[in-house]
Amino acid sequence: MGKIMVFDHPLIQHKVSIMRDKNTSSKEFRDLTREVAMLMAYEVTRDLPTQEIQIETPICPTTVEVLKGLDVAIIPILRAGLGFVDGMLEIIPNAKVGHVGLYRDPETHEPVEYYCKLPEDIDKRRVIVVDPMLATGGSAIAAVDFVKARGAKDISLMFLIAAPEGIEALTNAHPDVDIYIAAKDEKLNENAYIVPGLGDAGDRIFGTK
Ligand code: PRP
Ligand code: URA
Repeated sequence: MGKIMVFDHPLIQHKVSIMRDKNTSSKEFRDLTREVAMLMAYEVTRDLPTQEIQIETPICPTTVEVLKGLDVAIIPILRAGLGFVDGMLEIIPNAKVGHVGLYRDPETHEPVEYYCKLPEDIDKRRVIVVDPMLATGGSAIAAVDFVKARGAKDISLMFLIAAPEGIEALTNAHPDVDIYIAAKDEKLNENAYIVPGLGDAGDRIFGTK
């Protein structure tokens, strides 16, 4: 069974609260998405394996811990997931980036696939799927279906805001994945938007509405 972690760090909570405000501009929203991604990446990578190596400081030889390989793949769900990529790459600069293109059909709320390009060696990487919103869970479930079909085994997902319905659907469909979220909200509304949420994450990042 994967773990579910809700971040209660005050810096993350503060930034997400500003993002929720409808008066926050797209530029500010984008900047905050990048900043929260960096803070969350710090925690999501907490259990990356390390190994000991010998070095010499200016004072003496010593043994230090370094990362044992940097085999991470960041997989944004297009398009809103793109907002997380730069911040994550600042913390994990050698990560590879794959893309899964999905949008929700406005009537059925079901995910529709339009693009999928993943690193070839995804089966050997620690995969972190990123998207600001987990609403019904349909998009996240489809994204995990894709990466698993290409052989990925070690999969985490990182969201800003999740609805209880989405968490339940995702954990039922993929009980083996770890889920990291900045905030768990109340519910979905009749249009499958998260309440109170922050609106349409893609539109807010890219200023399309
Ligand atoms: C949003 C969001 C998620 C999805 C979540 O994307 O970024 O991918 O909805 O909803 P779900 O859990 O019900 O699947 P959207 O479909 O609006 O596409 P966009 O990023 O291109 O705006
Ligand atoms: N997608 C969004 O961008 N926002 C929601 O609240 C639900 C799905």
